[in-house]
Amino acid sequence: MKIGGPVIAVDGPAAAGKGTLARQLAEVLKLPYLDTGLLYRAVTWKVLEAGSKPTDPAETFARALTIEDTRRSGLRSPEVTQAVSNVAAQPAVREALIDIQRHFASIHGGVLDGRDIGTVIFPEADVKFFITASLPTRALRRFLQMGGDMTASDASEKLHIIEDSLKSRDHIDTNRKNAPLCQAHDAYVIETDAMDAASVLSEALRIVRERLNTCPKVT
Ligand code: DC
Repeated sequence: MKIGGPVIAVDGPAAAGKGTLARQLAEVLKLPYLDTGLLYRAVTWKVLEAGSKPTDPAETFARALTIEDTRRSGLRSPEVTQAVSNVAAQPAVREALIDIQRHFASIHGGVLDGRDIGTVIFPEADVKFFITASLPTRALRRFLQMGGDMTASDASEKLHIIEDSLKSRDHIDTNRKNAPLCQAHDAYVIETDAMDAASVLSEALRIVRERLNTCPKVT
């Protein structure tokens, strides 16, 4: 497929900062942005709405999916979040979602974040990032994102629940047979534990400039 602009792949586990980075890169570089996790979440939403289980075959839902489905509300609900890794582990679902991701970037290029963008969807991406952080850091970020208060008496209990949920999603995402979460051999790894979002963006832009030989300005 001929691609009309640069493709930047941003992969990594949940809550490592890849969504924030990918969105900001797309804004600075004026490229379309796709959060591919929303595709799997939208399929999961349809599975649950139909009264099916996350392990029931979901290819039909995936084949019928459009980008508009990713704008539906409720895709980040606890029910969808709990079920999505099992839906995303189905090879037929992954296969059915390949074209929609490739087409998304076919006209202008794009920044796509997910788990297998640099390994399966765009193995020829112009720049690949693998964004990661330790489990406690990711749990804390997710807790704060959800409006959590570290001074609350149940803060550590809630942090443990989030940590367990991230751990179990990591396990399913990393161990599935088809397109598991893994670092592409030619990806730039950014370990974000000790970095804020601005430093991650600035490091990523430095790499993008070097790779694309352009000088996008941070505004
Ligand atoms: O990034 P997220 O938490 O919204 O992703 C939701 C789920 O979808 C997660 O379990 C991993 C899976 N996923 C995937 O398997 N491949 C992608 N490209 C994106 C997400």
